[in-house]
Amino acid sequence: MSRDVEKRISLEHHIDESASVFDSRSENRDNYINALESALDALKQENVNFTRNNLDIRSSIDELVAMQHLSNSISTAVTPEAILGTLIELTRQVIPVIDSNIFLFDSAENRLLPLSHNGSLRLQQEAQQQLEAGIVDWVFSEKKTVIVPDLEHLVADGTARNFVMVPLMLRNKPLGIYFIHTVKNQQEFSNQDIQLLTVLANQAAAGVENWRTYEQLLNANKELKASEAQMIQAAKLAAIGELAASIVHEIKNPVQVLVLQLDMMQRGFQVPNGIQSIRDQVVRLSEITKRLMNFARNVSEEFLTEAVNVNKPIADVVAMVHYEFRNSKIDIVPEYGQDLPLIQGNGNYLQQVFLNLMINARDAMPSGGTIGITTAIEGASIVIGFSDTGGGIPKELQEKIFEPFFTTKSAGKGTGLGLPICRKIIQQHQGKMRVQSTEGKGTKFIIMLPIRRSVQ
Ligand SMILES: Nc1ncnc2c1ncn2[C@@H]1O[C@H](COP(=O)(O)OP(=O)(O)OP(=O)(O)O)[C@@H](O)[C@H]1O
Ligand SMILES: [Mg+2]
Repeated sequence: MSRDVEKRISLEHHIDESASVFDSRSENRDNYINALESALDALKQENVNFTRNNLDIRSSIDELVAMQHLSNSISTAVTPEAILGTLIELTRQVIPVIDSNIFLFDSAENRLLPLSHNGSLRLQQEAQQQLEAGIVDWVFSEKKTVIVPDLEHLVADGTARNFVMVPLMLRNKPLGIYFIHTVKNQQEFSNQDIQLLTVLANQAAAGVENWRTYEQLLNANKELKASEAQMIQAAKLAAIGELAASIVHEIKNPVQVLVLQLDMMQRGFQVPNGIQSIRDQVVRLSEITKRLMNFARNVSEEFLTEAVNVNKPIADVVAMVHYEFRNSKIDIVPEYGQDLPLIQGNGNYLQQVFLNLMINARDAMPSGGTIGITTAIEGASIVIGFSDTGGGIPKELQEKIFEPFFTTKSAGKGTGLGLPICRKIIQQHQGKMRVQSTEGKGTKFIIMLPIRRSVQ
């Protein structure tokens, strides 16, 4: 028995049993089987259609997901061009676009300002005309998309073009309009097209809002940096002010020698190495001025760095303060590490750190003492130690001293900005700064700066 015959017998058997349920009046089994087979064919066809529909739905879903991804990228774009670029790309999937732009509504001046300046002038003029004609107001008040014919084009060659105005609303307030120039006929616009354009405009509104917030944040950050730079500069000038006596002395010394030598020469005395000696004093004076100018130089908002041997800014500061400190009975004992590897840093900023630490140490030793300075290599860092033999800092204050405006000095003497600025500068150098102190014994500030990686 062939398989077909077997199948047919089994089918007939099945039909025998269920015929009464399907069609009790049917007596002709063959007819009935035929009917069943054509019903089966119809079912198969339906299945094919269903699969096809299923595929259509799947590809629509895929398209929607792709659109969703793109439209999300509108709201996260941080430049007007990026917002508009993605918006146009998405709009093209809905309607043909000749040109489009977003116009932001300036309610104070009753103007529309183009988001992107790459857009055409024609579009801008048209948008302004629609504003003056009151259409834009209507779009805002009704929160509805409007399609108006491009009359200029109709007159020129008789073909129809349209302008589409989609409101950009943010928290129910008009932010602007999305203005599209299209070849699509007004009658061909479906509700779905309008709905999709509205969704896109909403995404664009969120994008514009994000971009504006981002811009504000950048500006705030810029202002913060500028005021930070001003603060550092002010603290630096204050520190120089503290050293006025030292600076005056440094200048007075060579000037006195000069006056003396010139006086002697004028009176006809033979001064050994006279010219050379005068020259040396002038060079010294010019170095002092240079050092001072270098230190007082305005800090730039940008943190510029170069290869620095830390011994140099320390030695510069020691040279700047030694006279004044000697008068205050303070010995400075530097132990510079030899052949130190360079760090990547800003010598001017580092001078400021060292000067602040020296002034703090001096203030901690009103009846004199010793400042020890060491520089050495430790692993991948340069370690700088500044120690004094002052009164020390109580344990509970040892972290507080780095907070802005924390000072134990009398009003007018300390601002409490020295150490926070020092720590900030060291952090800018990717370094660390900490304090070790024992009350009644003294204080040591330890600074670690990463060694500069050799440039290949
Ligand atoms: N070497 C030190 N020995 C003892 N106390 C110190 C030492 N260095 C800093 N301090 C304490 O830390 C406080 C904060 O120091 P910081 O340099 O930040 O501000 P200031 O010296 O008080 O004022 P400014 O530096 O703005 O003139 C000081 O007032 C002082 O109490
Ligand atoms: Mg200080």
